[in-house]
Amino acid sequence: VETSRLIDGKQTAEDIKVEIAAEVAQRRAAGHKVPHLAAILVGHDGGSETYVRNKVLACERVGFASTLLRYEDDITEAELLAKVAELNEDPEIDGFIVQLPLPRHIDPDKVIEAIRPEKDVDGFHPMNIGRMVAGLPALLPATPSGIVELLARQGIKTSGKHCVVIGRSNIVGTPVSILLAKNLDTANCTVTLCHSRTQNLADICRTADIVVAAIGRPEFVTADMIKPGAVVIDVGTTRVADASKKSGFTLKGDVNFSEVAPLASRITPVPGGVGPMTIAMLLLNTLRAAKGEIH
Ligand code: GUN
Repeated sequence: VETSRLIDGKQTAEDIKVEIAAEVAQRRAAGHKVPHLAAILVGHDGGSETYVRNKVLACERVGFASTLLRYEDDITEAELLAKVAELNEDPEIDGFIVQLPLPRHIDPDKVIEAIRPEKDVDGFHPMNIGRMVAGLPALLPATPSGIVELLARQGIKTSGKHCVVIGRSNIVGTPVSILLAKNLDTANCTVTLCHSRTQNLADICRTADIVVAAIGRPEFVTADMIKPGAVVIDVGTTRVADASKKSGFTLKGDVNFSEVAPLASRITPVPGGVGPMTIAMLLLNTLRAAKGEIH
């Protein structure tokens, strides 16, 4: 695939990080404390460890302070809720995340609802989701806002376009469908939200100007589902065993890239597409929380 058709999320995320670093330096010079992000990581899931490590490294890159709090799988729900309460009250911490997934004995909804909405830089709290739906200032979920920002910064027209979102998760599919339908210069799409019960999925996808694949099934989106010239956004990051790799796995997107890329006008690679944007938007949320911009 020619690089002109690749959507370089890595570079776009770098651009955003440079902007954030400049603002942090400016604020520091004006006597403000630097934004401080905390991350709670429970257990040893390989993907989660990588994501959290990248979030902490990204903080260093832009001049934020960061704190990583690690707990073993056997932490109780009550203990985790107590940690959340501590971070809620800690004036040094501007925002924090609890990396998902959590062990089965912990209810993620309960944990998310325990986070102070003003510090919920993942944008997962029902208060932030409700404010997002209502069009009020809110901390927006990072992957959905990263997708909208990526389309905007890559000059991809969205207004009036038919966008088919595949997958209805709380983290990506549902919120990105809401954001893309909003009356914003960077959105204004006609949105169809498809999921595991959708009938005639391939037919619906083939009517899309923009496809957002967020189902977590490697190479689910195939050439027969894509209209020639469509824009394809791949949110998938499934680890698939691969003995030929030093790590022992390959990161697979939800799109069969080799078969879909020749049809698409623009397409995100995996890795290097949506993933880096998620981290950039988390940093942006942390800066906004530190500035007290939202609530
Ligand atoms: N798991 C998958 N995506 C995310 C995310 O954006 N934030 C957190 N905390 N956990 C996740």
